[in-house]
Amino acid sequence: MVKRQLPNPAEIFELMQFRKPELDAKKRRLESALTIYDLRRIAKRRTPRAAFDYTDGAAEQELSMRRARQAFQDIEFHPSILRGAAEVDTSCEIFGGPSALPFGIAPTGFTRLMQTEGEIAGAGAAGAAGIPFSLSTLGTTSIEDVKAANPRGRNWFQLYVMRDREISYDLTRRAAAAGFDTLFFTVDTPVAGARLRDKRNGFSIPPALTVKTIVDAIPRPWWWYDFLTTPKLEFASLSSTGGTVGELLDAAMDPTISFDDLETIRGLFPGKIVIKGVQNVADARKLVDLGVDGIVLSNHGGRQLDRAPVPFRLLPEVVREVGKDTEIAIDTGIMSGADIVASIALGAKFTLIGRAYLYGLMAGGREGVDRAIWILADQIRRTMKLLGVASLAELGPQHVTQLTRLQPVR
Ligand SMILES: Cc1cc2nc3c(=O)[nH]c(=O)nc-3n(C[C@H](O)[C@H](O)[C@H](O)COP(=O)(O)O)c2cc1C
Repeated sequence: MVKRQLPNPAEIFELMQFRKPELDAKKRRLESALTIYDLRRIAKRRTPRAAFDYTDGAAEQELSMRRARQAFQDIEFHPSILRGAAEVDTSCEIFGGPSALPFGIAPTGFTRLMQTEGEIAGAGAAGAAGIPFSLSTLGTTSIEDVKAANPRGRNWFQLYVMRDREISYDLTRRAAAAGFDTLFFTVDTPVAGARLRDKRNGFSIPPALTVKTIVDAIPRPWWWYDFLTTPKLEFASLSSTGGTVGELLDAAMDPTISFDDLETIRGLFPGKIVIKGVQNVADARKLVDLGVDGIVLSNHGGRQLDRAPVPFRLLPEVVREVGKDTEIAIDTGIMSGADIVASIALGAKFTLIGRAYLYGLMAGGREGVDRAIWILADQIRRTMKLLGVASLAELGPQHVTQLTRLQPVR
């Protein structure tokens, strides 16, 4: 029998803890986000459909993107016991410089479309967190303005080689002059992938006002207020001619780029040359033999060839083949700090986040990006502590098993 008594008012009083309400709506909104998926939900609510879908979507049936995220979930972590450290060291060296965390911000095109603070928010947040920021050739902020937003931090430039080569070469020289220390040469975009959501939404650049977009705007007045009261949304380094992002890409990109272009680019840029979009071992080996400074295993966040290999699945094999000879970074599908820890454990030196940062940007501008970085950093630290490692260097393949769901028929 449970012994009962009358409720004691003093005891009830002790239990009552009314916290001071957070009056800042943005702060309240962002603090309610505990995961990147939470930021995604907030972003979706606040961003017009065409802009959200441009960011959130991928190519064709979006199988690559879903598989990439699934692959990170299909792992098992193996913790070691009784080695706990009070603090963990999450810093690393990558492409000749430091990073406070094992991830950086990936290059993304048309970033101010998502939220008008765009690259300035990303570069500022990256600088404050001590991680690198990458600016896309298709960025909406100039090289020099990014440098001004992140004057002491590391800035990287992503290069698309365009039909008009001089435009690309000029951007490369400008990035070098502004002190950008690493160049990502993206090689997975001979033509644009089929972003079907953009087609279905009638999404164009600049965004067109149609009956559909106006109806969609009604519940999202703040996005439109921002959009209409800030400088015009346009590519910072490219004159756009209208159309979908895919059509613009196809018009601007040179599909005939080859390994020979590497030589020219190296001649223009004194910093590190890293090839982004590597998707098999043979190409990785060839690039190493050509003397590149690093590679990024990536399928462009599933936005190019749908059903391309999942980079995280490719990682162990590429590490085995060229890991001793070059620095390997990885992206596509990273939605949590645990995904980043798993990548490092399997031999990646670094990771990049695309959408994870953009969801933060859409959810709350600069503070939203700060929140995204904080969430990932917190998850990284906790995962490392639970695994019983005190530094990234202690992580190894013994900490992760990849569980098979889709495997090749041999
Ligand atoms: C909206 C958006 C725009 C992108 N634009 C570019 C780009 O201009 N250049 C590039 O090399 N990669 C671009 N990417 C690919 C990212 O650099 C990165 O490879 C990808 O986002 C990683 O996958 P994740 O979004 O799952 O993190 C873009 C990705 C997104 C989501």
